[in-house]
Amino acid sequence: MGIIMDGKKIAEGIRTELSEKIKKIEMEKKVKPTLATIIVEGDEASASYVKNKEKVCLQTGLGSVTYELKKDTKEEELIEIIKELNSREDIHGIIVQVPLPKQINENKIASLIDYRKDVDCFNPENAGRLFRGEKCLMPCTPKGIIRLMKEYGIEISGKKAAVVGRSNIVGKPAAIMLLNNNATVVLCHSKTSDLKSQLIDCDIIVSAVGKPMLITADMVKEGAVVIDAGTTMVDGKLKGDVDFENVLKKASYITPVPGGVGSMTTTMLIENVLEAFNNYE
Ligand code: GUN
Repeated sequence: MGIIMDGKKIAEGIRTELSEKIKKIEMEKKVKPTLATIIVEGDEASASYVKNKEKVCLQTGLGSVTYELKKDTKEEELIEIIKELNSREDIHGIIVQVPLPKQINENKIASLIDYRKDVDCFNPENAGRLFRGEKCLMPCTPKGIIRLMKEYGIEISGKKAAVVGRSNIVGKPAAIMLLNNNATVVLCHSKTSDLKSQLIDCDIIVSAVGKPMLITADMVKEGAVVIDAGTTMVDGKLKGDVDFENVLKKASYITPVPGGVGSMTTTMLIENVLEAFNNYE
């Protein structure tokens, strides 16, 4: 029987520390580290993610400004807002929530966010630094996953790790970050021909697909660490990618959904805004 990793509790502990740091900055420098979020109407899940981010920002004492744009917003309008936020001294972190509507080119937008304020690691400058293992603002979900493993004292170096899912926001950067932590990494995706054969000898499995029950107990080695970063709403309930009940019996450590990776993600966002604030000076 594995240990259920309490991401919520770990995240709360980190947030308490971050709150103290934010208070100190405000007292000493008379500035509130502030995140600006841009959301373009049209994606229901995004709207609820953004509400949650705002709530967590306020709870920890960060400033939070949200720009809610209409569905038919032109690319040029969004570009103007980003340019303004890039130049504002009272804004330290910028998030453009994705997906964006068709008329807006996500890659173009990502490359326009000042890399020093790019708390999602969307800008190619940050992505390139991450790729080369250099200092940068790291993407929040993979950063939260690595942090959670470290908080539980799980060794990554020398271990064989599999990441399932190759999104630019979770899967690919998670694979790179595991590699940067000296794991031997296999990156699986929808065209992987035999997922079980790739996973069965792995010490660490990170799944970030969005397909409930994708990772079943027969795919998992006895004693593996299983991190579930999948999020799918099923009948109003949040589900991960892992068959939790059965994989729990084989894993040494496992994250639940909810209560695992999710709270770590928002906490790493706060940490990134503080990092952006400190580096910007
Ligand atoms: N859409 C889903 N998750 C995220 C995220 O972490 N950041 C941004 N910008 N968009 C998202």
